[in-house]
Amino acid sequence: MSDSIMKLYGTRQRVTGKRNPMIYGHFIEHFHRQIYGGVYDPGNPLSDEDGFRSDVIEAMKKIKVPVLRWPGGCFVSSYHWKDAVGKNRVPLFDKAWRVEDPNSFGTDEYIRLCRKIGCEPYICTNAGTGTAEEMSDWVEYCNLENEGQYAKWRIQNGFPQPHKVRYWSIGNENYGFWEIGAKTADEWGHLVCEAAKMIKHVDPDTELTAAALTDLRWNINLLESSGQFLDWISIHEYWDAIHQTNDYADYEAVCAYTNNIDHSIREVRGLLAAMKLDKKIRIAFDEWNLRGWYHPNVHTIEQGRTKEDYLYPRDKNDENSRYTMADAVFTACFLNACNRHCDIVGMANFAPIVNTRGCIFTYPEGIVLRTTYHVFDLYVNYLGDTVLDGWCADMPCMTVRDKQGGTQETDICDFVVTCFSDREGLAVALVNKDPAEEQSVQLMLEGAGEAVLYYIAGDSTEAYNDIGHTEVTIQRETLGAYTPGMTVHLKPHMVGVLQIG
Ligand code: AHR
Repeated sequence: MSDSIMKLYGTRQRVTGKRNPMIYGHFIEHFHRQIYGGVYDPGNPLSDEDGFRSDVIEAMKKIKVPVLRWPGGCFVSSYHWKDAVGKNRVPLFDKAWRVEDPNSFGTDEYIRLCRKIGCEPYICTNAGTGTAEEMSDWVEYCNLENEGQYAKWRIQNGFPQPHKVRYWSIGNENYGFWEIGAKTADEWGHLVCEAAKMIKHVDPDTELTAAALTDLRWNINLLESSGQFLDWISIHEYWDAIHQTNDYADYEAVCAYTNNIDHSIREVRGLLAAMKLDKKIRIAFDEWNLRGWYHPNVHTIEQGRTKEDYLYPRDKNDENSRYTMADAVFTACFLNACNRHCDIVGMANFAPIVNTRGCIFTYPEGIVLRTTYHVFDLYVNYLGDTVLDGWCADMPCMTVRDKQGGTQETDICDFVVTCFSDREGLAVALVNKDPAEEQSVQLMLEGAGEAVLYYIAGDSTEAYNDIGHTEVTIQRETLGAYTPGMTVHLKPHMVGVLQIG
């Protein structure tokens, strides 16, 4: 480790790009208590006249959710949207998650939710048991003024104006054996091409993406057959893959996972560039979270036989004490990477937003804002929209134990330097991964005015929020007048944004 103090550089003369606000997007699936008993809870005293939890909507508005992907996830691959629209709804046995879905929350309720939050809708279609025609019928329902039976059906259902859904995904993880109606690479290329053609014939203003990133052949095949129609390519990542085991990586192992964040982005960026599509197609990291959701014995060939095996364990996703500063530090490092790659990553969707591994937890009488919620609050409300090409000299490394029992070196800190396109001033995202030691960084950035640090750290790496237990909230610290060369001290396991000017 070097004895010299870290120095952070960056200048308005070297702009990486303007980040798309959609990198702070979210995802919600018909899984466990995300929708029913989560954001949608008719009858709860905290719910509004449409059945939405007002406290959840307020929390979503505060973090300015820019885009919300729905309805799955694996759920969508046997979902038929027509069963959940209009008066005659048909309950669904959801074959992905093996529960009944009442279908009382369908397309129109979802659009109403997006309008209340003020976010862009983003619909993921059924490319498992669904057809290209069913997908494009959905686009007709949402986006055509009044031509055809589906637009007329929407009008009849009380929505005279089109829903104007711009973002559509063809399928979910159709490459995976676990996905209902999984496809081979060849089948996938053909289906995406035909579905995209039909969707664009219905509404050429839609922006389309499709499931990618399992192997090179899959992606090349997809891009060769359908690249002309695609505006996005979807990738998913849950670094701590504990779907089956729920054995959380500890703080050090989470720091080791931060080494892997860039990999998926670089892999797809390289492929897009090699296929000369990097100016046309952007990356939608449309499901991501540090930890995989816990749903044992369901995505396997050996299905759990009793609800004790496959259903009740899902409650364990909602143990609030497990969402600590480890999750916050990882989330900040991920968002930093998206900012740094903002020329190619245009969207990312935290999976999910409510309950399970989400940043908002609901219970009948209120909500808990988990540590990750405050990271979104910091990045959305305090960081600038223009990313500068920052760099750090003398960055120390720390040695951490990874989950496999090996050791890895990881940078102790993670930074992003930003400015604002509509005003003067800088804002720097500062992450100190060190579990025990304060770190100091000297800011070699041009700028003037007051320096104010907004941060979360909690008292330990294990700090968390729960009902009646709040350890992690945003703190504000005034550091005085900024001059280049100012040294800032970062508490251990801290995520912050320093505003200058
Ligand atoms: O574990 C949750 C699931 O993860 C989502 O439904 C799916 O898209 C992903 O594999």
